Amino acid sequence: MYRFLLKPLLFLFQPEKAHGITMALFSWACALPWGKKVAKKAFTYHHPSLEQTVWGLKFSNPVGLAAGFDKDGKYLNALPCLGFGFIEIGTITPQPQAGNDKPRLFRLPGDKGLINRLGFNNDGMVAAAERLKKYKRRGVIIGGNIGKNKNTPNSEASDDYLSCFHTLHPFVDYFVVNVSSPNTPGLRELQDKEPLTKLLTQLMDANKALAKAKPILLKIAPDLSTSQLDDIIDILKTTQIHGVIATNTTLDRSKLRTETEGIGAGGLSGQPLRNKSTEIIRYLHQNSGGSFPIIGVGGIDSPETAMEKLEAGATLLQVYTGLVYEGPCLIKNINKKLAAIRSGES
Ligand code: FNR
Repeated sequence: MYRFLLKPLLFLFQPEKAHGITMALFSWACALPWGKKVAKKAFTYHHPSLEQTVWGLKFSNPVGLAAGFDKDGKYLNALPCLGFGFIEIGTITPQPQAGNDKPRLFRLPGDKGLINRLGFNNDGMVAAAERLKKYKRRGVIIGGNIGKNKNTPNSEASDDYLSCFHTLHPFVDYFVVNVSSPNTPGLRELQDKEPLTKLLTQLMDANKALAKAKPILLKIAPDLSTSQLDDIIDILKTTQIHGVIATNTTLDRSKLRTETEGIGAGGLSGQPLRNKSTEIIRYLHQNSGGSFPIIGVGGIDSPETAMEKLEAGATLLQVYTGLVYEGPCLIKNINKKLAAIRSGES
């Protein structure tokens, strides 16, 4: 139904508008007494072989929602009905910010990709914390992806990350340090060994000082060289952070069929990113001896492409662009296939 009816309809609208309309309608439907039940029946799939404990957190299945889809935690009442094992909100910054001028999100149907330059548009950490405070937990793991405001210089970035960390700490199950968005000028420079080690050490010190420490993960870009990836492995050892999310969007458009000159700057996601992110996962897994869990994300749009990431060394998965092209059944389809493999039925 999604591919033949809803998608053609939604694709008539600008992508950001289509996202807003879909989520407003879906949230409204899930707020109806029977809405949640119907959605859950349609989209969720449970099987004991999908359950997994990672970082002391119990995931009901390995398929999560990637950051950027629900930046402010506005849809947490509805999104669990789609069958995710975990949902990552954000990127959240200390101060609210509007992001870049619209249009700033573009579909590339010929490549099954998206280009975005949203620029961390979000309501800020206080609004997110208020929303999370009111949210009634229903078993799904919630991650908080944090970043810095556009106007904060890199020399003061750690203040922003620490503020978000402390403000959201009571309300999320794990944190993601996002230093890999291409849409905040200079942000990716924080991936260099020295500033990154400093930032993560500060966050881990703050974490250890709290009564309940939470897992802290690092989200990296797919455009890092092998020597930068070696640095990342070293940094994980030194700082003892808990894992990596690989990867964010890419700046590489070399393999696109679509002409994108008119679109301008932005990060590319979806199918054109898939192999690049899989190879980053494989490199990190092999060269670290599997010493930390990796959440694999980038171009997953089928059970087969989900399996590729797991075979490369990912422990958990996330999806975003695949949902736009394949629809919400994607999560259930991946989980069904995975359960069949794990329980020896396939
Ligand atoms: C993103 N992504 C993202 N990542 C992040 O850490 N913080 C963010 O705010 C956003 N925002 C965002 C907006 C949009 C419109 C897209 C398409 C993507 C990146 C996302 O979480 C993911 O890492 C990549 O999109 C790769 O996965 P997919 O989309 O290929 O499954």
